[in-house]
Amino acid sequence: MQQSILVTGGAGYIGSHTCLELLDAGHNVTVVDNLSNANPASLHRVEELTGRKLNLHKVDLLDPVGLHAVFKEQHFDTVIHFAGLKAVRESTEIPLRYYHNNVTGTLVLLETMKRHHIHRLVFSSSATVYGTPPSLPIRENFPLNPTNPYGRTKLTVEHTLRDLAGAEPEWSIIMLRYFNPAGAHPSGSLGEDPTGTPNNLLPLIMQTAVGQHEKVSVFGGDYRTSDGTGTRDYIHVVDVALGHIAALKTLSETRGCVAYNLGTGKPCTVLDVLKSASRTVGKQIPYEIVKRRAGDVAESYADPTLAASRLQWQATRNLDAMCADAWRWQKTHPNGYTS
Ligand code: NAD
Ligand code: WQD
Repeated sequence: MQQSILVTGGAGYIGSHTCLELLDAGHNVTVVDNLSNANPASLHRVEELTGRKLNLHKVDLLDPVGLHAVFKEQHFDTVIHFAGLKAVRESTEIPLRYYHNNVTGTLVLLETMKRHHIHRLVFSSSATVYGTPPSLPIRENFPLNPTNPYGRTKLTVEHTLRDLAGAEPEWSIIMLRYFNPAGAHPSGSLGEDPTGTPNNLLPLIMQTAVGQHEKVSVFGGDYRTSDGTGTRDYIHVVDVALGHIAALKTLSETRGCVAYNLGTGKPCTVLDVLKSASRTVGKQIPYEIVKRRAGDVAESYADPTLAASRLQWQATRNLDAMCADAWRWQKTHPNGYTS
């Protein structure tokens, strides 16, 4: 069924890829984004690629008056809530800004939704809420114990959403815990545009491939993994976007608040990623093994079976596709959307 969807943070990396899939699926899309970590060019690309229009409101979630005006102008069936700050290290330096933006911003959104009688929500959570898992693969009912302020803002929002759905039965909420989103749209015209030096592995590898960094520092070669480097569950950003389309389809039958892992279930080491990226690029990407990064878990990968059975969703794109698509984007956009 065609819906009218409000997408917060829709101009960002995962949000823009999701807007594209939403428009392709026939939904009407309105984006609210303060553009603190995004370039509106991403949404122009989405319009070009889909041949459809969307509405963008440059509004901050911390501005209840501005947000109310957006809800007053138009009715929404569902809200998909991506807006948030996401840099782990920065969150340890300016925790109050992270709590205010991610937690207070969500409270303002929820109050505004309530005021306008909208009770359907998909929330961007993160595998970071699990912290160090007791075993692998990670299932949704594992202990939640994030190890950094960013992760604790996500867990605080998860608790808030559970409490809200517990108190008010009209809410239908799906929380999607993404593992490690990577890659870009296969067209090469939509991708990740990090400000400053990226924190995440694949953007760093791709920037090294075009000569923006001398080499990749591999954080730790002495983990008890197949090659000594850390493992993660890298998931193609288009698969993540399609996870939201699947969530939308089941939201009307969802009562209360449910969490799903979005991962592939397949662990890859840092050296696996470097090998795949080097094959794609056609040359060895230089790297050096350095000491472990503080706060890193050795291994993390999802048990994605709950999403497969309840959302009828599974990731279909592999690491080579993530590298090929990320490279197509990097080659043509060495400086992101301003290239
Ligand atoms: P992103 O920074 O590219 O997108 C977030 C968007 O939210 C940006 O466009 C930013 O301008 C906007 N925004 C931030 N604060 C806002 C506010 N107060 N009001 C309005 N807009 C605001 O990040 P992303 O990678 O696309 O991540 C999207 C969501 O998914 C985030 O909530 C993030 O925490 C979560 N997540 C991301 C990853 C990842 O590795 N990328 C993994 C797990 C979870
Ligand atoms: C991946 C692997 C590093 C950089 C983070 C957040 C998480 C989620 C996804 C938002 C690890 C190694 C990295 C480098 C390296 N985001 N690495 N050299 O830490 O798994 O997850 O992004 O919710 O919350 O914590 O992702 O891309 O930083 O690291 O060796 O220069 O690459 O040690 O094994 P991470 P990442």
